[in-house]
Amino acid sequence: MKTVTLIKGDGIGPEIIQSVKDIFQAAKVPVQWEEQNAGQTALDETGELIPGTLVDSINTNKVALKGPITTPVKEGFRSINVQLRQMFDLYQNLRPCKSTPGVNSRFEDVDLVLFRENTEGLYSGLEIYDPRLEMADSIARITKDGSMRIIRAAFDYAKNNQRKKVTLVHKANILKHIGKIFLDAGMEVAKDYPDIVTDDKIIDNMCMQLVIKPEQFDVVVTTNLFGDILSDLCAGLVGGLGLVAGANIGDDIAIFEAVHGSAPDIAGKNIANPTAVIRSALLMLNYLKLTDYHDTISTALDSTLANRDECTADLGGRAGTTDFTQNIIKKLK
Ligand code: NAI
Repeated sequence: MKTVTLIKGDGIGPEIIQSVKDIFQAAKVPVQWEEQNAGQTALDETGELIPGTLVDSINTNKVALKGPITTPVKEGFRSINVQLRQMFDLYQNLRPCKSTPGVNSRFEDVDLVLFRENTEGLYSGLEIYDPRLEMADSIARITKDGSMRIIRAAFDYAKNNQRKKVTLVHKANILKHIGKIFLDAGMEVAKDYPDIVTDDKIIDNMCMQLVIKPEQFDVVVTTNLFGDILSDLCAGLVGGLGLVAGANIGDDIAIFEAVHGSAPDIAGKNIANPTAVIRSALLMLNYLKLTDYHDTISTALDSTLANRDECTADLGGRAGTTDFTQNIIKKLK
């Protein structure tokens, strides 16, 4: 039995995490949860946004599943999500984006995997505010080592998963130094993977290409902010944020979570789509080498998604979060 740290998060977090718990229990997955809090819920209970017990739990278990956590737009509240990624040096943010048969979306043949650098760039936390001048500087720190390791992770993934092409996304034409470090690192790493086609795209053109012809992309690797924005764009290509999973991976610790946020507009209404967090949990099962359980749940999920009536409202269905979960459980074999 593997122990996994479980952070329910807030907003729709508790509802969609409950869905994973119910499915895992029904499928008899050999995982036991160690529940911890972070963010406002933790602050209310313990006086800390990231309690020491949570940090200890992740350090011990090495694997966590996390619901979304709200980041208020106010000074002095640094994103818990960004802090956790930096604290455990989870430099790879892996976000697979694939069309699902039966799900209504703009394209039917998207199958790309986005690698977002997760610890540097504009999310480095290097911000200076001068209230006198009403002026702020946000420093996008990029290092050669940081670029090399995320790009190598993308190429390794391509090699191990029979992918053919890696696209480096940057803005080296304008951001001369940080763009060049990233792009040069990409070209250096690419030399070690002669069987994989390497190309690069400037971020603005990349956005247009994705909207017009997304099937041309295979594995995509980029810096932190570009990756954050592109992953929501890619989610829009395959049916929306309710569907797209994510994993934050370091050398020996990983935290799995959906791409989407806490969706306060639909929280507490039993209408959120739990697919993205279920798929994040499926990535976790593969990471834990529990592939049989992965395959069983994945098949039940896909056959539920293929029948629109059994799906949640964002996919055009009428099922609530709990009905959708039960529809999956009924199909477990
Ligand atoms: P969001 O991703 O929470 O929601 C964007 C839109 O997508 C909303 O209309 C929402 O209802 C819809 N949506 C999202 N997930 C859905 C689901 N599972 N099923 C059906 N519809 C879904 O983005 P937003 O509103 O910009 O952010 C809300 C909060 O979440 C913010 O405080 C933000 O900082 C935080 N956030 C947290 C993340 C994390 O914990 N990893 C990631 C992104 C945002």
